[in-house]
Amino acid sequence: MEYKNVFFQKEDKVAVITISRPKALNALNTETLKELELAIDEIANDDQIYAVIITGAGKAFVAGADISEMKDLDAMGGRKFGNLGNSVFRKLETLEKPVIAAVNGFALGGGCELSMACDIRIASSKAKFGQPEAGLGITPGFGGTQRLARLVGTGMAKQLLFTAEIINAEEALRIGLVNKVVEPENLIEEAKLLAKKIVSNAPIAVKLCKTAINRGMQMDIDTALIYEAEIFGACFATEDQKSGMTAFLEKSEKCFKNK
Ligand code: CAA
Repeated sequence: MEYKNVFFQKEDKVAVITISRPKALNALNTETLKELELAIDEIANDDQIYAVIITGAGKAFVAGADISEMKDLDAMGGRKFGNLGNSVFRKLETLEKPVIAAVNGFALGGGCELSMACDIRIASSKAKFGQPEAGLGITPGFGGTQRLARLVGTGMAKQLLFTAEIINAEEALRIGLVNKVVEPENLIEEAKLLAKKIVSNAPIAVKLCKTAINRGMQMDIDTALIYEAEIFGACFATEDQKSGMTAFLEKSEKCFKNK
Protein backbone atom coordinates (compact mmCIF):
# COMPACT_ATOMS: atom_id res chain seq x y z
CA MET A 1 0.00 0.00 0.00
CA GLU A 2 1.22 3.46 -0.88
CA TYR A 3 1.28 6.29 1.67
CA LYS A 4 -0.67 9.35 0.54
CA ASN A 5 -1.79 11.05 3.74
CA VAL A 6 0.57 9.67 6.37
CA PHE A 7 4.33 10.19 6.35
CA PHE A 8 6.98 9.02 8.71
CA GLN A 9 10.65 9.55 9.15
CA LYS A 10 13.21 8.07 11.50
CA GLU A 11 15.74 10.11 13.42
CA ASP A 12 17.91 8.79 16.26
CA LYS A 13 15.64 5.92 17.35
CA VAL A 14 12.53 8.14 17.10
CA ALA A 15 9.89 7.89 14.37
CA VAL A 16 7.91 11.03 13.57
CA ILE A 17 4.52 10.32 11.97
CA THR A 18 2.92 13.30 10.23
CA ILE A 19 -0.69 13.20 9.11
CA SER A 20 -1.08 15.39 6.06
CA ARG A 21 -4.36 15.64 4.21
CA PRO A 22 -4.51 19.40 3.65
CA LYS A 23 -7.80 19.57 1.76
CA ALA A 24 -9.69 18.29 4.82
CA LEU A 25 -7.50 19.57 7.70
CA ASN A 26 -6.08 16.05 8.08
CA ALA A 27 -9.53 14.54 8.74
CA LEU A 28 -9.39 10.78 9.09
CA ASN A 29 -11.07 8.91 6.26
CA THR A 30 -10.78 5.15 5.79
CA GLU A 31 -7.73 5.53 3.57
CA THR A 32 -5.87 7.64 6.16
CA LEU A 33 -6.79 5.30 9.01
CA LYS A 34 -5.44 2.34 7.02
CA GLU A 35 -2.23 4.21 6.25
CA LEU A 36 -1.86 5.06 9.93
CA GLU A 37 -2.31 1.40 10.77
CA LEU A 38 0.37 0.44 8.27
CA ALA A 39 2.78 2.99 9.74
CA ILE A 40 2.13 1.64 13.25
CA ASP A 41 2.80 -1.92 11.99
CA GLU A 42 6.06 -0.83 10.35
CA ILE A 43 7.17 0.93 13.52
CA ALA A 44 6.20 -2.07 15.68
CA ASN A 45 8.45 -4.29 13.55
CA ASP A 46 11.42 -1.91 13.44
CA ASP A 47 13.86 -2.71 16.24
CA GLN A 48 15.70 0.56 15.66
CA ILE A 49 12.68 2.67 16.65
CA TYR A 50 12.26 3.16 20.41
CA ALA A 51 9.75 6.01 20.53
CA VAL A 52 7.16 7.67 18.30
CA ILE A 53 5.90 11.23 17.82
CA ILE A 54 2.61 11.91 16.01
CA THR A 55 1.78 15.32 14.63
CA GLY A 56 -0.24 16.97 11.88
CA ALA A 57 0.81 19.12 8.93
CA GLY A 58 -0.54 22.68 8.63
CA LYS A 59 -2.98 24.29 11.03
CA ALA A 60 -4.62 21.07 12.19
CA PHE A 61 -3.45 18.06 14.14
CA VAL A 62 -6.53 16.17 12.93
CA ALA A 63 -9.90 17.94 12.51
CA GLY A 64 -11.84 14.75 13.22
CA ALA A 65 -13.15 11.77 11.38
CA ASP A 66 -14.04 12.63 7.79
CA ILE A 67 -17.54 14.09 7.82
CA SER A 68 -18.03 13.73 4.05
CA GLU A 69 -17.28 10.01 4.30
CA MET A 70 -19.61 9.58 7.28
CA LYS A 71 -22.57 11.65 6.05
CA ASP A 72 -24.40 8.89 4.13
CA LEU A 73 -23.44 5.91 6.26
CA ASP A 74 -26.15 3.60 7.60
CA ALA A 75 -26.00 1.97 11.06
CA MET A 76 -23.91 -0.94 9.81
CA GLY A 77 -21.50 1.39 7.98
CA GLY A 78 -21.20 3.64 11.04
CA ARG A 79 -20.33 0.67 13.22
CA LYS A 80 -17.75 -0.55 10.69
CA PHE A 81 -16.12 2.90 10.51
CA GLY A 82 -16.11 3.17 14.33
CA ASN A 83 -14.58 -0.28 14.66
CA LEU A 84 -11.84 0.62 12.17
CA GLY A 85 -10.90 3.80 14.08
CA ASN A 86 -11.04 1.97 17.40
CA SER A 87 -8.86 -0.89 16.22
CA VAL A 88 -6.21 1.44 14.75
CA PHE A 89 -6.15 3.66 17.85
CA ARG A 90 -6.02 0.62 20.14
CA LYS A 91 -3.08 -0.69 18.14
CA LEU A 92 -1.35 2.63 18.80
CA GLU A 93 -2.27 2.60 22.48
CA THR A 94 -0.90 -0.92 22.94
CA LEU A 95 2.18 -0.41 20.74
CA GLU A 96 5.13 -1.52 22.85
CA LYS A 97 6.89 1.81 22.37
CA PRO A 98 6.04 5.18 23.92
CA VAL A 99 4.01 7.51 21.72
CA ILE A 100 3.95 11.31 22.09
CA ALA A 101 1.23 13.39 20.43
CA ALA A 102 2.65 16.76 19.35
CA VAL A 103 -0.66 18.57 18.93
CA ASN A 104 -0.01 21.48 16.58
CA GLY A 105 -3.56 22.73 15.94
CA PHE A 106 -7.15 21.51 15.78
CA ALA A 107 -7.56 18.19 17.61
CA LEU A 108 -11.30 17.74 17.28
CA GLY A 109 -13.44 14.60 17.43
CA GLY A 110 -11.27 11.82 15.99
CA GLY A 111 -8.25 14.14 16.34
CA CYS A 112 -8.74 14.58 20.09
CA GLU A 113 -9.37 10.83 20.24
CA LEU A 114 -6.12 10.11 18.37
CA SER A 115 -4.18 12.28 20.81
CA MET A 116 -5.78 10.44 23.74
CA ALA A 117 -4.66 7.07 22.33
CA CYS A 118 -1.07 8.36 22.65
CA ASP A 119 0.83 8.07 25.92
CA ILE A 120 1.77 11.74 26.34
CA ARG A 121 0.31 14.91 24.82
CA ILE A 122 2.29 18.10 24.24
CA ALA A 123 0.29 20.96 22.75
CA SER A 124 1.19 24.07 20.85
CA SER A 125 -0.35 27.17 22.41
CA LYS A 126 -2.44 27.33 19.20
CA ALA A 127 -3.94 23.85 19.66
CA LYS A 128 -7.69 23.44 20.14
CA PHE A 129 -9.37 20.39 21.60
CA GLY A 130 -12.93 19.18 21.63
CA GLN A 131 -15.43 16.45 20.93
CA PRO A 132 -17.97 18.29 18.72
CA GLU A 133 -19.85 15.13 17.70
CA ALA A 134 -23.13 15.87 19.51
CA GLY A 135 -23.41 18.95 17.29
CA LEU A 136 -23.29 16.64 14.28
CA GLY A 137 -25.90 14.24 15.61
CA ILE A 138 -23.50 11.50 16.68
CA THR A 139 -21.49 10.36 19.67
CA PRO A 140 -17.69 10.20 19.56
CA GLY A 141 -16.82 6.93 17.84
CA PHE A 142 -13.05 6.46 18.09
CA GLY A 143 -12.80 6.08 21.86
CA GLY A 144 -13.77 9.60 22.99
CA THR A 145 -16.53 8.57 25.37
CA GLN A 146 -14.12 6.23 27.11
CA ARG A 147 -10.64 7.75 27.04
CA LEU A 148 -11.70 11.34 27.78
CA ALA A 149 -13.59 10.24 30.89
CA ARG A 150 -10.57 8.20 32.01
CA LEU A 151 -8.20 11.12 31.44
CA VAL A 152 -10.12 14.12 32.80
CA GLY A 153 -12.87 12.48 34.89
CA THR A 154 -16.51 11.85 34.07
CA GLY A 155 -17.84 15.31 35.03
CA MET A 156 -15.50 17.25 32.74
CA ALA A 157 -15.81 14.63 29.96
CA LYS A 158 -19.60 14.87 30.08
CA GLN A 159 -19.45 18.67 29.97
CA LEU A 160 -17.20 18.60 26.89
CA LEU A 161 -19.29 15.96 25.12
CA PHE A 162 -22.70 17.42 25.95
CA THR A 163 -21.75 21.00 25.02
CA ALA A 164 -19.48 20.13 22.04
CA GLU A 165 -17.39 23.01 23.36
CA ILE A 166 -13.93 23.63 21.87
CA ILE A 167 -11.24 24.45 24.41
CA ASN A 168 -7.82 26.03 24.01
CA ALA A 169 -4.48 24.52 25.00
CA GLU A 170 -4.33 26.27 28.39
CA GLU A 171 -7.73 24.88 29.36
CA ALA A 172 -6.66 21.44 28.10
CA LEU A 173 -3.63 21.72 30.38
CA ARG A 174 -5.75 22.84 33.33
CA ILE A 175 -8.08 19.83 33.07
CA GLY A 176 -5.21 17.36 32.57
CA LEU A 177 -5.88 16.57 28.94
CA VAL A 178 -2.34 17.60 27.93
CA ASN A 179 0.97 17.36 29.76
CA LYS A 180 2.53 20.61 28.57
CA VAL A 181 1.84 23.67 26.39
CA VAL A 182 4.68 25.17 24.35
CA GLU A 183 5.12 27.87 21.74
CA PRO A 184 4.18 26.61 18.25
CA GLU A 185 7.72 27.01 16.88
CA ASN A 186 9.11 24.84 19.71
CA LEU A 187 6.56 22.03 19.53
CA ILE A 188 8.45 19.42 17.51
CA GLU A 189 11.74 20.24 19.22
CA GLU A 190 10.10 19.81 22.66
CA ALA A 191 8.55 16.51 21.58
CA LYS A 192 11.92 15.33 20.29
CA LEU A 193 13.66 16.38 23.52
CA LEU A 194 11.12 14.41 25.50
CA ALA A 195 11.51 11.42 23.18
CA LYS A 196 15.30 11.68 23.53
CA LYS A 197 15.02 11.61 27.31
CA ILE A 198 12.80 8.53 27.07
CA VAL A 199 15.05 6.63 24.66
CA SER A 200 18.07 7.23 26.90
CA ASN A 201 16.46 4.83 29.39
CA ALA A 202 16.24 1.05 29.13
CA PRO A 203 13.77 0.31 26.31
CA ILE A 204 12.43 -2.88 27.89
CA ALA A 205 11.80 -1.08 31.18
CA VAL A 206 10.02 1.78 29.37
CA LYS A 207 7.90 -0.69 27.41
CA LEU A 208 6.98 -2.55 30.60
CA CYS A 209 6.10 0.71 32.39
CA LYS A 210 3.65 1.46 29.56
CA THR A 211 2.10 -2.00 29.70
CA ALA A 212 1.92 -1.95 33.50
CA ILE A 213 0.05 1.36 33.57
CA ASN A 214 -2.26 0.50 30.68
CA ARG A 215 -3.15 -2.98 31.94
CA GLY A 216 -3.05 -2.10 35.62
CA MET A 217 -5.61 0.68 35.14
CA GLN A 218 -8.10 -2.02 34.04
CA MET A 219 -7.52 -4.12 37.18
CA ASP A 220 -8.36 -3.89 40.88
CA ILE A 221 -5.39 -2.64 42.90
CA ASP A 222 -4.46 -6.04 44.40
CA THR A 223 -4.35 -7.77 41.01
CA ALA A 224 -2.52 -4.78 39.53
CA LEU A 225 0.19 -4.92 42.20
CA ILE A 226 0.66 -8.67 41.62
CA TYR A 227 1.02 -7.84 37.92
CA GLU A 228 3.54 -5.12 38.76
CA ALA A 229 5.60 -7.60 40.82
CA GLU A 230 5.64 -9.98 37.83
CA ILE A 231 7.01 -7.43 35.43
CA PHE A 232 9.35 -5.96 38.05
CA GLY A 233 10.77 -9.49 38.42
CA ALA A 234 11.03 -9.91 34.66
CA CYS A 235 13.30 -6.84 34.48
CA PHE A 236 15.93 -8.72 36.49
CA ALA A 237 16.25 -11.21 33.62
CA THR A 238 17.45 -8.44 31.28
CA GLU A 239 21.02 -7.43 30.50
CA ASP A 240 19.97 -3.79 30.73
CA GLN A 241 19.07 -4.16 34.43
CA LYS A 242 22.52 -5.57 35.17
CA SER A 243 24.34 -2.96 33.12
CA GLY A 244 22.16 -0.07 34.38
CA MET A 245 22.75 -0.90 38.04
CA THR A 246 26.45 -1.66 37.47
CA ALA A 247 26.90 1.69 35.73
CA PHE A 248 25.25 3.44 38.69
CA LEU A 249 27.42 1.71 41.26
CA GLU A 250 30.62 2.12 39.26
CA LYS A 251 29.71 5.71 38.33
CA SER A 252 30.26 4.86 34.68
CA GLU A 253 28.33 5.71 31.51
CA LYS A 254 25.17 3.64 31.07
CA CYS A 255 24.71 1.84 27.78
CA PHE A 256 21.47 -0.01 27.19
CA LYS A 257 21.19 -2.73 24.54
CA ASN A 258 17.45 -3.43 24.60
CA LYS A 259 18.24 -6.93 25.87
N1 CAA B 1 -14.18 16.10 7.82
C1 CAA B 1 -14.17 16.45 6.52
N2 CAA B 1 -13.73 17.63 6.08
C2 CAA B 1 -13.31 18.51 6.99
C3 CAA B 1 -13.30 18.23 8.37
C4 CAA B 1 -13.76 16.94 8.77
N3 CAA B 1 -13.75 16.57 10.06
N4 CAA B 1 -12.83 19.31 9.02
C5 CAA B 1 -12.55 20.23 8.10
N5 CAA B 1 -12.83 19.76 6.87
C6 CAA B 1 -12.67 20.45 5.59
C7 CAA B 1 -13.72 21.51 5.41
O1 CAA B 1 -14.94 20.96 4.95
C8 CAA B 1 -13.07 22.43 4.41
O2 CAA B 1 -13.22 21.86 3.14
P1 CAA B 1 -13.56 22.81 1.87
O3 CAA B 1 -12.35 23.72 1.75
O4 CAA B 1 -13.68 21.85 0.73
O5 CAA B 1 -14.80 23.56 2.21
C9 CAA B 1 -11.59 22.34 4.77
O6 CAA B 1 -11.45 21.15 5.57
C10 CAA B 1 -11.14 23.52 5.62
O7 CAA B 1 -12.01 23.63 6.72
P2 CAA B 1 -12.72 25.00 7.13
O8 CAA B 1 -12.93 25.88 5.95
O9 CAA B 1 -13.93 24.66 7.95
O10 CAA B 1 -11.56 25.65 8.06
P3 CAA B 1 -11.77 26.67 9.26
O11 CAA B 1 -10.40 27.12 9.62
O12 CAA B 1 -12.78 27.70 8.93
O13 CAA B 1 -12.36 25.79 10.48
C11 CAA B 1 -12.48 23.87 11.90
C12 CAA B 1 -11.59 24.79 11.06
C13 CAA B 1 -13.04 24.63 13.13
C14 CAA B 1 -11.60 22.72 12.39
C15 CAA B 1 -13.66 23.36 11.06
O14 CAA B 1 -13.14 22.84 9.83
C16 CAA B 1 -14.45 22.27 11.70
O15 CAA B 1 -15.25 22.55 12.58
N6 CAA B 1 -14.23 20.99 11.27
C17 CAA B 1 -15.00 19.89 11.74
C18 CAA B 1 -14.60 19.49 13.15
C19 CAA B 1 -15.45 18.35 13.65
O16 CAA B 1 -16.64 18.48 13.81
N7 CAA B 1 -14.80 17.21 13.92
C20 CAA B 1 -15.48 16.04 14.41
C21 CAA B 1 -15.85 15.12 13.30
S1 CAA B 1 -16.87 13.80 13.81
C22 CAA B 1 -15.81 12.66 14.48
O17 CAA B 1 -14.62 12.85 14.59
C23 CAA B 1 -16.47 11.40 14.92
C24 CAA B 1 -15.64 10.43 15.65
O18 CAA B 1 -15.42 10.52 16.82
C25 CAA B 1 -15.14 9.26 14.97
